[in-house]
Amino acid sequence: MGVDPASNHFIMRILITGGAGFIGSHLAEACLRDGDEVTVLDDLSTGRMENLAAVRGHARFHFAQGSILDATVVERLVGGADLVYHLAAAVGVRLVVRTPLQTIITNVEGTQVVLENCAQHGRKVFLASTSEVYGKSRKAAFAESDELILGPTSVGRWAYACAKALDEFLAFGHAKERGLRFVAVRYFNTVGPRQVPEHGMVVPRFISQALKNEPVTVFGDGTQSRCFIHVHDAVTATRLLANNPDAEGEVVNVGDPRPVAILELARKVLRLTGSSSVVQHVDPKRVYDTDFEDMENRVPDIAKLKRLTGFSPEHSLDQAIQDAIAVLREGASR
Ligand SMILES: NC(=O)c1ccc[n+]([C@@H]2O[C@H](COP(=O)([O-])OP(=O)(O)OC[C@H]3O[C@@H](n4cnc5c(N)ncnc54)[C@H](O)[C@@H]3O)[C@@H](O)[C@H]2O)c1
Repeated sequence: MGVDPASNHFIMRILITGGAGFIGSHLAEACLRDGDEVTVLDDLSTGRMENLAAVRGHARFHFAQGSILDATVVERLVGGADLVYHLAAAVGVRLVVRTPLQTIITNVEGTQVVLENCAQHGRKVFLASTSEVYGKSRKAAFAESDELILGPTSVGRWAYACAKALDEFLAFGHAKERGLRFVAVRYFNTVGPRQVPEHGMVVPRFISQALKNEPVTVFGDGTQSRCFIHVHDAVTATRLLANNPDAEGEVVNVGDPRPVAILELARKVLRLTGSSSVVQHVDPKRVYDTDFEDMENRVPDIAKLKRLTGFSPEHSLDQAIQDAIAVLREGASR
């Protein structure tokens, strides 16, 4: 930790892996706003430098282009940090189904490299996991101690859930055997500006189709529901958990428990974009081949998050969609 000569306050040195991505870039901005020094490590596979446009010239911001699989780079950057947010991963159903092997290597080997170095240097790490680990559970709301019910190994999408679950096991293992301090967060669907449509995320995909006045393609009958949290809320929860000693060694859900049916989501996007598109129902198996299974509902139980941080989501889904539309509309006009 350094001292800011102007204010005499301690400056926390933060490393964000995957910081050029959707959530990571918002996290970088929030940390800088609060006076931290931020280094981003990103290989720009799905992340983009334009996500960091607002922070690139900042005196307390540093960018390293490289991979979490590169142990030498990770060793150096972790050694120079006080706190590590590990967000780098292969993300998005489309990407995961197309490249299951690379997904597993990045999400398991890469995480092992990060955790190993955090343990060695005695650095606390925030681990980004996912609600996907709950798999096919049919519970009304998912709590952290629930059973995980994954599908068969022949169905590619489960590689992502399984890899992320293994990441959590790795964190517990490092904690037990090497004294690693960590908090693992299971993000539920996070939405907002900078999320891109290319990797299969439903909200930017709908917005992008609507802005082009193309049919908005809903998988199945659209009665399946999801819960969406605004990325600004997700970032607030992330930082509260990472800085809370009581959350150490815990797995915590981060999401907004208000569900919306996917057909209703499509109609919302049409209304908020003012698009003349129509809704078209499609069979996801035709889009993803056989490597696809959809869950009916996925609602977070956020009692643990509330107990640890007092936080609950503040932004509405309409707000998140409107914020995402503004950025995607700007991109479309360039
Ligand atoms: N967005 C969501 O709804 C959601 C939901 C659940 C979990 N998560 C988790 O949150 C984290 C961030 O997700 P996101 O939505 O911002 O995705 P994203 O794809 O925008 O960000 C991931 C970042 O990691 C980088 N990356 C990938 N492989 C890398 C490697 N080998 N080395 C260095 N950088 C690498 C990418 O370039 C990208 O910038 C991920 O761990 C993801 O699994 C996100």
